[in-house]
Amino acid sequence: MTSVLFSPLSLGPITLPNRIAVAPMCQYSADDGSATDWHLQQIMQYAMSGAGLVTLEATGVERRGRITHGCLGIYSDDNEAALGRVLTAARKVAIPGTRFGIQLAHAGRKASTQRPWEGGGPLGPHEDPWPIVAPSALPFGPGYATPAALDEDGMARVRLAFVRAAQRCVRLGFDMVELHSTHGYLLDEFLSPIANVRSDGFGGSRDNRMKFPLSVARAVRAVLPAHMVLGARMTGSDWTSDGWSQDDAAVYAQALKEIGVGYLSVSSGGIAPNIAIPATPGYQVPFAAHVKAKTGVVTAAAGHIAAADQAEEIVASGKADMVALARAFLDNPHWVWHAADRLGAAIKYPPQYARAAASLWRMAALARPLDFPKA
Ligand SMILES: Cc1cc2nc3c(=O)[nH]c(=O)nc-3n(C[C@H](O)[C@H](O)[C@H](O)COP(=O)(O)O)c2cc1C
Repeated sequence: MTSVLFSPLSLGPITLPNRIAVAPMCQYSADDGSATDWHLQQIMQYAMSGAGLVTLEATGVERRGRITHGCLGIYSDDNEAALGRVLTAARKVAIPGTRFGIQLAHAGRKASTQRPWEGGGPLGPHEDPWPIVAPSALPFGPGYATPAALDEDGMARVRLAFVRAAQRCVRLGFDMVELHSTHGYLLDEFLSPIANVRSDGFGGSRDNRMKFPLSVARAVRAVLPAHMVLGARMTGSDWTSDGWSQDDAAVYAQALKEIGVGYLSVSSGGIAPNIAIPATPGYQVPFAAHVKAKTGVVTAAAGHIAAADQAEEIVASGKADMVALARAFLDNPHWVWHAADRLGAAIKYPPQYARAAASLWRMAALARPLDFPKA
């Protein structure tokens, strides 16, 4: 059997060697937005993981757009230099063909919160909180700060922050920029009627609610060179009947397609607390399948995908074109090697690891040794 998971995938100007992405994962370990040694070790590991695409975590386009004090940012020259150090080192050890993307984000009304291991709630008065912004002056939930509703000048400044961040990504040599427009952060807040109750031209109808996020996508696409991919992470459903629906997602996806996105990673949830989500294996795959069927855009499925056979089935059946795994990589950065072993795929991997485990010996025979730097 030939594995579809391990077959190449074109995202327009770039081709991934396989259909496995490391999904963006906040590490809450940055220093005023700047990547640290933590990011260096993590992204270097993922560079060697064999994943076709490695996506760096939600990265704030402005300081107030970070979720926590530890979130990665790309709003200063220091941030840019620190990310450059990580990307350069990662590329040195990367399996040839590995592509690197970064998720550009603004946390909107979910900014100014504690790291998960500090409680994850809103920052208290002695924790250096900062003023937050959103489409409407509605707090995320009880106890959360009330954001200031952005006026049109404020929206233009946020859009410019996305553009400047994208320009930094171009300078750094990323292959791809992914717009974070899900999980209840700023762009998603504009989209969802739960967080957007504006009465101007950016609220009300779905078309109005899509205007600002689409204007950001258009502005970012305009500053990316043709060889770079613009992708987006988007919401398949708010999981509540008064929220964003699968049909809304298909319309948004079509509009993003017309702007020139190369792929859409379809996730869900996060717009408000206390919405029950039936998070079972592959529970978001139908959202990706819906977007793909309605628009033909290359889609990534995410959420509770952890087994090689499960990932293979998702792409082989055509429900999605690729899978984006998060916790599976946290658990095992060598997930791809084991998946290849399971699915009988020949992959490239660093020969330094050939003796890691008996199951890898078969891969050692299949793989073409690479000219890796001597330890
Ligand atoms: C530690 C951690 C950090 C995350 N950070 C981000 C993020 O920065 N951006 C994002 O879109 N999703 C983020 N997510 C969500 C994941 O990308 C993924 O969609 C989710 O965990 C479900 O996939 P999984 O079952 O493979 O983990 C994060 C998840 C985890 C576990």
